[in-house]
Amino acid sequence: MPGTVIVGTQWGDEGKGKFTDYLAKEASLCVRYQGGHNAGHTIVADGDVFKLQLVPSGVLYPWVVPVIGNGVVVDPVVLIDELDMLESKGIDSRRVRVSGNAHLIMPYHQELDRVTERYLGKNKLGTTKRGIGPAYADKAARVGLRVQDLFDPKIFREKLDLVLREKNGVLAKVYNRLPVDADALARDYLGLAPRLEPLVDDTVHLVHEALDAQQWVLFEAAQATFLDLDHGTYPFVTSSNPVAGSVCGGAGVGPRDLERIVGIVKAYTTRVGSGPFPTELPEGDAEGDVMVERGGEYGTNTKRRRRAGWLDAVMLKHAVRINTCTELALTKLDVLSQFETLKICVAYEDERGTRYDHVPYHQSVVHKVRPVYETLPGWGHDIEHAETLDELPVAARDYVRFIEEFTGVHVSLVGVGPARDQTIVLPRAA
Ligand code: GDP
Ligand code: IMO
Ligand code: MG
Repeated sequence: MPGTVIVGTQWGDEGKGKFTDYLAKEASLCVRYQGGHNAGHTIVADGDVFKLQLVPSGVLYPWVVPVIGNGVVVDPVVLIDELDMLESKGIDSRRVRVSGNAHLIMPYHQELDRVTERYLGKNKLGTTKRGIGPAYADKAARVGLRVQDLFDPKIFREKLDLVLREKNGVLAKVYNRLPVDADALARDYLGLAPRLEPLVDDTVHLVHEALDAQQWVLFEAAQATFLDLDHGTYPFVTSSNPVAGSVCGGAGVGPRDLERIVGIVKAYTTRVGSGPFPTELPEGDAEGDVMVERGGEYGTNTKRRRRAGWLDAVMLKHAVRINTCTELALTKLDVLSQFETLKICVAYEDERGTRYDHVPYHQSVVHKVRPVYETLPGWGHDIEHAETLDELPVAARDYVRFIEEFTGVHVSLVGVGPARDQTIVLPRAA
């Protein structure tokens, strides 16, 4: 049975965690294929709140095997903390499987992430400072250490000494920082090996065994289309590829193993960190403030206030294309309930009045475009108790229908609150 991909269609924090958890109920494997603990996925189940960084959002169901694929970058300390957190909430974390080929985030990656951001000054990217970029850079430069290296102290030390020659030179001479002590680092990391060893597996094989056995495999993006290293708003992106096609590299499957691609879209738009954002409402704007406050738009991990604005359907259409979305799952429709009218960006215009119906490829254009809006009526009352499409006000249904018509893709799920059961399933029109 082919796999299902869940991917963000905006700049992250769309609610991937909520809908991955929702869909994982029917799955046997839930696989992360890129990113690391820069992700913060929230699940609200039976009144309990889970904030996951590395462990896939299917972990709450005892029959689901959560898999951290080869494309992920793993901070072993964070992983162990997260496993402990799950155990403390009564979730058996021994089912988690980690690819031996996944790369390790090392303390010098985090240090480099911090100092390079500081050196960029006003040009900083606004990273999560988790060492993600430097870890992927080392993977590409072929000097990364991998999870499997933890179980061979000799190889671990050889690779570490080699890479530290360069890293310590850069830290000390370029950034005026203290060098990393190889002995202490090796002791700390190798000390974690006994705890991690039982979890490490050939995850590519696991995924294919499940697919061959006609089991349902969910692939969960850590991030989103416009944070993609190739397709996002470079350089204001993350250092990996969340787009659906990247499941192939990050989990070891082929394009024909993927069938259902669920694009997660927030009913408005948010972004954390720097970079262009055509529909952004400036901080202090009354409508933007409603989105932030009602939507609780503060970072799951970093607690940063998220920038907010109306739904950008031009971006969404682009994301549908790039990911070949077969459906969309719309989250946080409830957050828009009090607006009298709603706006959706349907095109862009530059200062010379040139209209763009698609996302311009050139960064200078993207930075300067203004949104062209279509205005839709609001519904003016709360919808968080709606359980079916019929229980949604007509204006809310029209909002959903507008998105479907504009993108040409069916909206299959609508979120009307953070809880698992605040989900409306929309049947496909006959
Ligand atoms: P992710 O990174 O894409 O998994 O999203 P986050 O978990 O960082 O941010 C989404 C936030 O919105 C979380 O606090 C969720 O609990 C919450 N959320 C998800 N879906 C809905 C929804 O339909 N309505 C409301 N009000 N909140 C939601
Ligand atoms: P979830 O999983 C929102 C952003 C950072 C920064 C840029 C690069 O919660 O959707 P990085 O630390 O990855 O090098 O930072 O990417 N970013 C996210 N923004 N949600 C995320 O994950 C993000 N992960 C990274 O804010 O702008
Ligand atoms: Mg998040």
